[in-house]
Amino acid sequence: MSSYTIALNFEDGVTRFVECNAGEKVLDAAFRARINLPMDCSDGVCGTCKCRAESGSYDLGDDYIEDALSEDEKARGLVLTCQMVPESDCVITVPASSAACKTEQSTFSATVAKVERHHDAAVVLELEVDGAPPVFLAGQYVNIDVPGSGQRRSYSFSSAPGASSISFLIKKIPGGVMTTWLESARPGHKVELTGPLGSFYLRAVERPLLFLAGGTGLAPFLSMLEVLARANSQQKVHLIYGVTRDLDLVQIDAIEAYVAKLPNFTFSTVVAEDTSRHPRKGWVTQHMPAECLNDGDVDVYLCGPPPMVDAVRQYFDDSGVTPHSFHYEKFTPNAALVAA
Ligand code: FES
Repeated sequence: MSSYTIALNFEDGVTRFVECNAGEKVLDAAFRARINLPMDCSDGVCGTCKCRAESGSYDLGDDYIEDALSEDEKARGLVLTCQMVPESDCVITVPASSAACKTEQSTFSATVAKVERHHDAAVVLELEVDGAPPVFLAGQYVNIDVPGSGQRRSYSFSSAPGASSISFLIKKIPGGVMTTWLESARPGHKVELTGPLGSFYLRAVERPLLFLAGGTGLAPFLSMLEVLARANSQQKVHLIYGVTRDLDLVQIDAIEAYVAKLPNFTFSTVVAEDTSRHPRKGWVTQHMPAECLNDGDVDVYLCGPPPMVDAVRQYFDDSGVTPHSFHYEKFTPNAALVAA
């Protein structure tokens, strides 16, 4: 297999060379060489990896968005290293120091502003970021260092990007390290966060949306709904929020507020427990009206436990309807989030 030599010129004058295999992206080749080029989404969305190609030929593909790299920037030789596939040897100027490119993901600190407990089901944690508001995409998550435990837990933002006040919806787990810390957490306490992370985020809204939330998997949808409201979206959005017990239905007021803010937003709740007197009992797939699938012209987003992802997949197979896209994030209480 052929490869190309890519020179990376850092702003402190250091040049490093990496071998890029045919078809390989520059960001990946650099990473193999243990060089952490600036990046965030690695998906052509954020523009963080923007560099300048000083020489050489390459293909940028068409999987990135205009916000990340405009036609004008492209014409001026700017590139996204997460999309750039060299077709010859290249020289690239990196707008960062060589030392910065060996660092890991960014961390930031925040101060507890509010801890709102919802029975034994969940906790809403609000933090005030120390410094600039974190940049993230609606749907993404961060790792929170649980104070005093030496452990980290991953949580999706339930707040929208652009504010220094950030929030999370955290499932209460008896004996869990985060749950235990939250019992004594008070305004003014400090926490460290790392991120943002994840490929589960709201894409361009071009067709009806179906949001499927399992338990505290509601969090990223609150962030997405706020982004849609701010954009004055007219698109149809339907949310189905499924939980195990009646008490697990939290932040209903927050969801209801979007019925007023978004003209084509509807939602329903579903409770699984047999003893519940909720009008819709069972699983979300049992309460998914056919019109939600819009004959497949729909983008589906799901955040919930792995069995829910499997059940929804099976539902699509059985119904013979393939949604235009299906983005999901599986979570288990003590494991990292897994997006697809
Ligand atoms: Fe986000 Fe490249 S890392 S566009």
